Formats: sequence, C-alpha cells, structure tokens
Amino acid sequence: MKQTFDASLKDLNSFSVEAYAGRLLELESADDLQSLITDFHFDAARDLILGGGSNILFAENVEGTVVLNRVMGRQITPASDGTFILEACAGENWHELVLWSLEQGLSGIENLSLIPGLAGAAPMQNIGAYGVELSDVLNSVQAFDLQSGTIHEFRREECGLAYRDSRFKSADAGRYLVIKIRLRLQRNFSPQLNYAGLGEELAAMGVDKPTAKQVSEAVIRIRRRKLPDPAVTGNAGSFFRNPLVSQATAKLLGAEFEGLPVYLQDEESAKLSAAWLIEHCGWKGRCMGRAAVSSQHALVLVNNGNATGAEILALAYAIRKSVRDRFGIELQAEPRIVEAKQS
Ligand code: EPU
Repeated sequence: MKQTFDASLKDLNSFSVEAYAGRLLELESADDLQSLITDFHFDAARDLILGGGSNILFAENVEGTVVLNRVMGRQITPASDGTFILEACAGENWHELVLWSLEQGLSGIENLSLIPGLAGAAPMQNIGAYGVELSDVLNSVQAFDLQSGTIHEFRREECGLAYRDSRFKSADAGRYLVIKIRLRLQRNFSPQLNYAGLGEELAAMGVDKPTAKQVSEAVIRIRRRKLPDPAVTGNAGSFFRNPLVSQATAKLLGAEFEGLPVYLQDEESAKLSAAWLIEHCGWKGRCMGRAAVSSQHALVLVNNGNATGAEILALAYAIRKSVRDRFGIELQAEPRIVEAKQS
C-alpha cells in the first residue's frame, strides 16, 4: 500500500481547494483491506475514504488518514434472464465505464454520462441525472466493513437508495468501503426520455429514434453547456439537493412565487428547484471572495482561483440564509463537507 505523510489533497478534489491529510494511503489490491483495520486502526471519526473527490468540500485539513481506493477491474457476465451484469471495481472512472458499456452494446446508464467521479462512489449518493438514477440499474454492492473486517454483499434493496442518498452516506456513514458495484444492463435499448431537455437536444441533433450512444451524446452536450467543467473551474456539480417538501407547502409557495418549478413525487411530496430558489435570491453569477455561484447554473458553486474551502463554505451558508429568509426553505448540501469539529 502506498503511504504519504502530510499529503496535499488539492489534486484529489474537484473544487481544487488546498487541504492536507495527515497521511494518504492508496489501496493497491483487495489484499490491502484488512491492514486498514489491523495496521492503521481506521476510525471514521478521524479518517476518511475518498473516491474521485468530485463530491466533497475540504473546508479543513484531515488530521487522520485519507484512503484512496484506486483498484480497477471490470467485466460483463450474461444473466439467466437475458440481461447482463456489469461488475466494476470501485476505482474505475464512472464516465469511462459508461462509454465502455455502450461500446459493448449495453444500455441502461447512458443518461448518466459525464458524471465526474469513480464507480465506487456511485451508490454513495445514488447518482442521478436526466431522468435516471443509479437505483434504476444497480444490482448489488460489495463492501468492506471497516468495523468488523468482513466483506458484505448488499442487494439493491438493502442499500437504502433514495434521492441523492443511501445507507452508505447516511445510516452507515463511514462504516463501509465499496469494493465493487454490479449493474444490470440490457441489450435491448429502451430510451429514457422523461427529462424534457433530452428530447429537445436529440431533436436539435436531428435524431428521431435515438440509439443509446446518441442519448449519451445528447446528455454530454447538455452537461457541457449547462455545467462548468471541473477540469477548468473547480466545482462539485450541484452544491445543494433539490428540497423535498409536502405537496401542501409546494402549493402555497407556487401560489406566492410565480414560475417556481414544482416536480410532484409520490402522493404527498414534491421537489422544488434549488437552482430557481437560489437564482431568485439574486445569487447566480455572484462572487464572495474567490468563491462564486456559477453564471451557467445557480446550483453550482465554483472556485474562481485559489479559493479556500472555508470561503466556499461561507458562500454556501450565505446562500442558505437567503433562501431560508425569502422562501422559508432549508437547503441541504449535496457534497460531503469536511469542517472543523464543533467542540
Ligand atoms: N434553474 C434555474 N436557474 C439555473 C438553473 C436551473 O432557475 O441557473 C431552474 C430551471 O427552472 C430549470 C430547473 O431549475 O428548469 C432544473 O434545472 P436542471 O434541469 O439543470 O436540473 P437541477 O434540478 O438543477 C438536477 C441534478 C443535477 C442533474 C440535473 C439533470 C440535483 C441536486 N441536481 O439539477 O445533478 O444533472 O438535475 O437531471 O438533483 C449533480 O448532482 O451534481 C448534478 C449536476
């Protein structure tokens, strides 16, 4: 296992903020897992597992150990029901995996093209975009229990997947290290075009009956237009989740604020657009120090160059306060935030 002390995390987080880890450990194979417990005494209160770093904000250094799991490997196995199981080790790049699945003639994750990060992080927050969530295709997750040192297989139903959430992020936060994910994919393509903009993009591309690759291409085009590229401008995609409220609350707000987008969920709840709420508090494109709200998308906070994590967090707090004061809605951050512990 590769070990570095006082390691910079700047190149390991998509916000590109400077932060240091007391120690950085890089897993080289599954054989290294046990030593996280026996030699390094992994403790979730002090240490953390880092995926691609595309959904984390370091507003503070990590005094303990940061563990990187870069173990690669992927394979496709036919299932008895005519579907195919794509198995990917946690260190596989998510977007590369999507492109590879398309090359193999499989479909199911094309709408999730160009999402930054690694495969192992995908179940953590049940990645989702353009009408598809990981929960639609996830078959199972193999994870290492950092408390007991045993390996568990979680069927999809056991993963506690919900909108931008899972047991790995919530109830069991810090307990499991994802080793592998398995996805159930199809040879027979049925496009998921519920997201209105996707049909429009395909039409603009002159495509009538899209292939899975064309859907992927359309998603890539939309993402490139709407979202800043983290390789150019540090960001972590949507910084806040879209708030879930009761339909009664959504109705009251909808009557008071014309144009507020409301997406009905089940019979009782509705999702509001956090981007709309933020934009209507006047934040879109605004800077606070070296942190800013993207002028492309109000949900995306960006590092305008050498911002600290604390500056970005201060901006997030200011936005939250505006939205609370104006709309009575409490925004929740989507990325994991590493900040000083409250004493
Ligand atoms: N909108 C604004 N201002 C903006 C941008 C959007 O008012 O600057 C409003 C518009 O009314 C627009 C609506 O918000 O119609 C929805 O915008 P968009 O389609 O971009 O989706 P979103 O709800 O803002 C979510 C995900 C994205 C995902 C897109 C597409 C969350 C927190 N974010 O954004 O995920 O790509 O849908 O499915 O659910 C991410 O999680 O990092 C991410 C980028």
